[in-house]
Amino acid sequence: MTHRIAIIPGDGIGTEVMPEGVRALEAAARRFAIDLEYQTFEFGSCDYYVEHGQMLPDDWFERLKGFDALFYGAVGWPEKVPDHISLWGSLLQFRRRFDQYVNLRPCRLLPGIQSPLADRKPGDIDFYVVRENTEGEYSSVGGRMFEGTEREVVIQETVMTRHGVDRVLKFAYDLAQSRPRKTLTSATKSNGIAITMPWWDERVAAMGANYPEVSVDQFHIDILTAHFVMHPDWFDVVVASNLFGDILSDLGPACTGTIGVAPSANLNPDGTFPSLFEPVHGSAPDIAGRGIANPIGQIWSGAMLLEHLGYPEAGQAIVKAFEAVLAEGEVAVLTPDIGGTGTTESLGRAIAERIAG
Ligand code: NAD
Ligand code: IPM
Ligand code: MN
Repeated sequence: MTHRIAIIPGDGIGTEVMPEGVRALEAAARRFAIDLEYQTFEFGSCDYYVEHGQMLPDDWFERLKGFDALFYGAVGWPEKVPDHISLWGSLLQFRRRFDQYVNLRPCRLLPGIQSPLADRKPGDIDFYVVRENTEGEYSSVGGRMFEGTEREVVIQETVMTRHGVDRVLKFAYDLAQSRPRKTLTSATKSNGIAITMPWWDERVAAMGANYPEVSVDQFHIDILTAHFVMHPDWFDVVVASNLFGDILSDLGPACTGTIGVAPSANLNPDGTFPSLFEPVHGSAPDIAGRGIANPIGQIWSGAMLLEHLGYPEAGQAIVKAFEAVLAEGEVAVLTPDIGGTGTTESLGRAIAERIAG
């Protein structure tokens, strides 16, 4: 059976880490006899926008919907296109139109990487952020009025639906239930955001009735960020609204030493539409063009892609390979964000060789 994968490198370091992501996928596909077929798309990048005046062609939905998975690099180049245009015109459209309502973001301190938190070692930080990915604070309801006048008003509503919140909560509870610690933490702010968030808390409690084995706690988002830094070992599965989940999924990986290793799976769990796999990080204009971006976020996202397609062993082989290369700690192979003097390619090649066995 052939699996069709759409590759969208995007901008900046997206175009640099993608080849290493594909190299890892290829190595795993060879070893486990998986038939992958790729098609690369130039749209979903700021260069495409400069040429065409839009981020995606009009028929993007038709062209992509038949793929088994989408593999994205990163998008955004603020000097060419304002971020709200490039991101709303691409990544956020994929998430919404393909109903990728779960953004699953593992956060793990890996062997060989130094946490910026004192005395933390692998095993101390090992949790998932489950981020609601299609509604919440990222809504298109609102507008600007009286533009340019003293009476200017801007409104952007938070939209939460019972359908939308319950389905992501169910995913998070199922995940917590499947893990040894069976602990779910909900990110709330029901003290200050007094309409949507108390309701979010109610839905968390209501869903919890179906999961007697899962122990649940909740923290307001402000103190939760503090606990991420002070007590990252408390967390197992953290469920959050779209914006809170966005913030937590950069902070968590920062506590593991670098956001360059963090992967994500934008899942349409029903399988009606393709899911999208991409690193958590962006296009990093500050280091783009130098070949020094850490490719592990992209490579790990590839592992999640294979697991999603039904190849958990192949996905695990990729994870084991980058863990082994990191544990070896050869300075000339590793990228500068984790203390190395190597390049995106040297690290990517070392991982691919390890996958091949
Ligand atoms: P960013 O994630 O691109 O970079 C933040 C910092 O982390 C930078 O110092 C960067 O050098 C470093 N970094 C990121 N990835 C790294 C890697 N793989 N290896 C080593 N260092 C890495 O965030 P930003 O600067 O806020 O955003 C830059 C652009 O990317 C903006 O246009 C933004 O909108 C966009 N963005 C896109 C995505 C996405 O495509 N999913 C995610 C976040 C930001
Ligand atoms: C992410 C990114 C995006 C988000 C941006 C680039 C729109 O930060 O994937 O975490 O906010 O979801
Ligand atoms: Mn983010």
